[in-house]
This record gives sequence, C-alpha cells and structure tokens, in this order.
Amino acid sequence: MNGRRSLRAELAPLDEEFGAEVLAGLSREPKSLPCRYFYDARGSELFEEITELAEYYPTRAELAILRDHAGEIAARVAPGAVLVEFGSGSSRKTEILLDAMPGLAAYVAIDVSACALEGARSRLEARYPRLRVITRTGDFRMPLDLPAELAKAPRLGFFPGSTIGNLTREEAVGLMVDMRRALGKEPRLLIGADLRKDEALLLPAYNDARGVTAAFNLNLLARINRELGADFDLSGFRHEAIFDARQSRIEMRLVSLRGQEARVLGRRFVFAAQERIHTEYSHKYTVLDFQVLARRAGWSPVAVWRDAELLFSVHELIAP
Ligand SMILES: C[S@@+](CC[C@H](N)C(=O)[O-])C[C@H]1O[C@@H](n2cnc3c(N)ncnc32)[C@H](O)[C@@H]1O
Repeated sequence: MNGRRSLRAELAPLDEEFGAEVLAGLSREPKSLPCRYFYDARGSELFEEITELAEYYPTRAELAILRDHAGEIAARVAPGAVLVEFGSGSSRKTEILLDAMPGLAAYVAIDVSACALEGARSRLEARYPRLRVITRTGDFRMPLDLPAELAKAPRLGFFPGSTIGNLTREEAVGLMVDMRRALGKEPRLLIGADLRKDEALLLPAYNDARGVTAAFNLNLLARINRELGADFDLSGFRHEAIFDARQSRIEMRLVSLRGQEARVLGRRFVFAAQERIHTEYSHKYTVLDFQVLARRAGWSPVAVWRDAELLFSVHELIAP
C-alpha cells in the first residue's frame, strides 16, 4: 500500500489533511510544522494562558487600543452590518466591539478550534441574548458562506491577535486579498499587527519564565502523537524562540536534544542532535510596512491606532 492510500484508510478527512501536512513538513529540509495545528482543545487553552502572562504584551496592548477607539470604529459601521472575525479563538476582544455596536445583524466567528468556538458561542449568547452568533469551524482561508438573508448586509472583518504575523509577507497579502473578497461590497477590515520593537521586550514574550509558551509549542508534538498515532518523545525536544532582525520576525522552533527517531503514520523520521523543526513565525511590522502590504492586497488605510507604549497597532482598512 502506498503512503497516501494507507493514510486514507486510517484517518477521517480532516485528520487526513493534518496527517498529509505533517508528513510533508517533516520531509522538508529544514523540517517544519504548520502553526494552525497548535490549536487543538489543549492548545487553545494554553494560548489563553499565554495572553495573561506578564511578558506577553500583545493582548493587553490590543485590548487597550480597542477600548480607547471602539466608539470611533463603531461610528463608521452601518446598523445591520455583520461582524466577521477570522481566527476568533475565545472572542474576548470581540466583546469590546459588540458593546459598541448594538445594532449588528450578526456576529460570525471563524476558527479551526471547534472547542474555542463552542466556548465563545455559549458565553456570547448568554451575554448578548439578542445577537445572532454564527460559528464556522475551519480554515479562515475558505470562502465565506453566509445565510441568504445576510448576503447583502455590509461586513466588517475583524482579525486581531496579530495572527496575520504568523504568515509570511506573501501569504499575508494573499490572505488579505481573500478577506477583501469575503467581505463583499464596500468591505472594511480591522486588523491587529504587532509592532517592531526592542528584542529585550520581544524575546521574553515568546520565552516566558513559567514555560507556558514552551508547553504550547510542545503540545503540537503531543497532538501529533495522539491524533496521528506518532511516538515523539516530548522530553527529547525543547522550545526555542529567536528574533530574526533581517526578516523582522520571531521564529519558534522545537529543537531535538539528541539524535533520535520518531514514527508518524508508519513513516520513520530521523532527527540529528540540535536539529530544528520550525513551528511558527510572528512577523513584527512598522505601521508603514504593514500599510504597504495592505495596499498590495487592494486595501486603503483609513486609520491606525497604537497603544500608549507603542507596542501594538490596529489598522482600519477599506477597499474602495
Ligand atoms: C494568535 S490566536 C488569536 C486569537 C484571538 N483572535 C485573539 O486575538 O486573542 C490565533 C487564532 O486563530 C486560529 N487560527 C489559526 N490559524 C487559523 C486558520 N488557518 N484558520 C482558522 N483559524 C485559525 C487559532 O485557532 C486561534 O484561535
């Protein structure tokens, strides 16, 4: 049996994609794993813990920006609009917008983590009983299909958390083009991008003292073991996050502590001592750099806000 057919026999369709991407990533040189698979139930929980760490400034800074400017943002959104959030996770930041926009026709939350979506849905339905909450489990690069009665409503896209930074610049442009199309006529997008800053602030945010980010990174191997029947020895790998100044990005990796092997879906992978598996980028942009990317994707900047300490930026974009 060839590898592809044996995969089909063993896995449900979604796991099949996961399996195929893991096999492809581990076959590459250097080895890599796609970061969207961080977010199983445990990964989403660990991400929420990260957002509360003293060292992790992005969530606090973005929340402050949204609180300070929600009124101004809401003033430009027509009543009856639909708020569409990409990679919504816990939807905690969304509540600031929902409080400022009581006239929304619906809130659409898209995330790969079914568990995060369910948690968010029940909390939001209890807190906003009149709000229509629609959840879509899957990749935010998928075309957006909305119920027919919402098809003509104006749409405000929301993409917080600097998730855009996890993509390479080219991928980020491609995703912003897809979002422009998904957001219909006269689209509007509110997007959070982490700012370039001193390494003394950046590095601790991805190397926290309690090791929560390390646990988040290693959980990817635990997920591969559990869902793909692999046999990674988690104690044989360590978390690493470095800042690549030339590319202006944090790069997270798992480093093999010794020469070792792991089996994934019947395939054997060999890891040399100190060999790295790339797991995530987190690009850091200046305001101008980000606006250049947005323009390349057909968006025009309307506003940009930064927090008082100039750690984070939120851009409002329209496509004329
Ligand atoms: C950095 S977290 C941000 C979460 C939340 N929006 C915030 O600002 O705190 C990224 C979120 O995007 C989701 N995600 C990552 N890649 C995705 C993809 N390709 N499609 C859909 N959701 C994705 C993850 O499950 C996670 O909830």
